[in-house]
Amino acid sequence: MATVAFLGLGIMGYPMAGYLAKAGHAVRVYNRTASRAQQWLGDYAGEAFDTPAEAVRGAEFVFACVGNDNDLRQVVAGEQGAFEGMESGALFVDHTTASADVARELAAIGADKGIGFLDAPISGGQAGAENGVLTVMVGGEETDFERARPLIDCYARAVNLLGPVGSGQLCKMVNQICIAGVVQGLAEGLHFARAAGLDAEQVVEVISKGAAQSWQMENRHKTMLAGEYEHGFAVDWMRKDLAIVLDEAQRNGALLPVTALVDQFYSEVQALGGGRWDTSSLLARLTNLRSFD
Ligand SMILES: NC(=O)c1ccc[n+]([C@@H]2O[C@H](COP(=O)([O-])OP(=O)(O)OC[C@H]3O[C@@H](n4cnc5c(N)ncnc54)[C@H](OP(=O)(O)O)[C@@H]3O)[C@@H](O)[C@H]2O)c1
Repeated sequence: MATVAFLGLGIMGYPMAGYLAKAGHAVRVYNRTASRAQQWLGDYAGEAFDTPAEAVRGAEFVFACVGNDNDLRQVVAGEQGAFEGMESGALFVDHTTASADVARELAAIGADKGIGFLDAPISGGQAGAENGVLTVMVGGEETDFERARPLIDCYARAVNLLGPVGSGQLCKMVNQICIAGVVQGLAEGLHFARAAGLDAEQVVEVISKGAAQSWQMENRHKTMLAGEYEHGFAVDWMRKDLAIVLDEAQRNGALLPVTALVDQFYSEVQALGGGRWDTSSLLARLTNLRSFD
């Protein structure tokens, strides 16, 4: 059993750190809002600390799942950040959805201190984290990957190494590109079904057995038709991810016309007050423009 630290006990990090504790590892946690770490200690065995630097002391593995690039920089390389307390030979595993650039930047700082770095963004949502069945997309050195894998397995059902540092984040970008187009297609389909006077529930029942089937269709159509969006993956987070995607595409030359358009649609959802709504709220935007009810 290893001594590990987990930084960031948000919607995703809280249950992930919990799975490490349940597996028997000695888990040292840090959360910016200390009350959340205290809550975690009520649910799981471990120790809480006031700064990342203290939490990581003596830890062989350090995991993080915070918000965006700047949050990550602060927690890792800022004052009282993880790199101040980590020892040479330790390994940092970042589960934040961030840019490939920040992964390379932090990996280089870590390398100077003898600290390994894996970028390991996740997919599977809150339910995936709570049920320990996340998909993890990893970038970094193969030896580091093999070392971290048994621990990541505690909360994942698929863990894959995609290439050097940054590759995990690039894979996650592909994931978000695919989701953006699919959700808009589903929103338009349901919107059209209503305009055509069809029973949208029945339509989904029929077409979900064929080529139109998707995770979004299966898991989101009911709440979309009910106009319920207070759950799932927030539009604000999706816009953060799509900004990273579009920035990367500027550099690698990929053409992402639909992704760019859907990003604009999400800005309209934000303007409707839906920043914290699930990404399936693209239908709310259409309904707002033209309702057939
Ligand atoms: N939610 C999902 O379905 C999902 C799915 C896949 C990937 N992700 C990605 O996973 C990451 C975390 O998502 P989440 O849903 O768990 O977010 P969340 O519930 O908002 O939690 C964010 C965590 O990061 C901490 N944090 C943020 N900025 C910080 C800073 N500057 N310094 C220290 N701590 C900081 C927060 O601390 P406080 O408690 O003090 O705010 C909190 O513990 C994001 O990159 C997100 O895009 C989320």
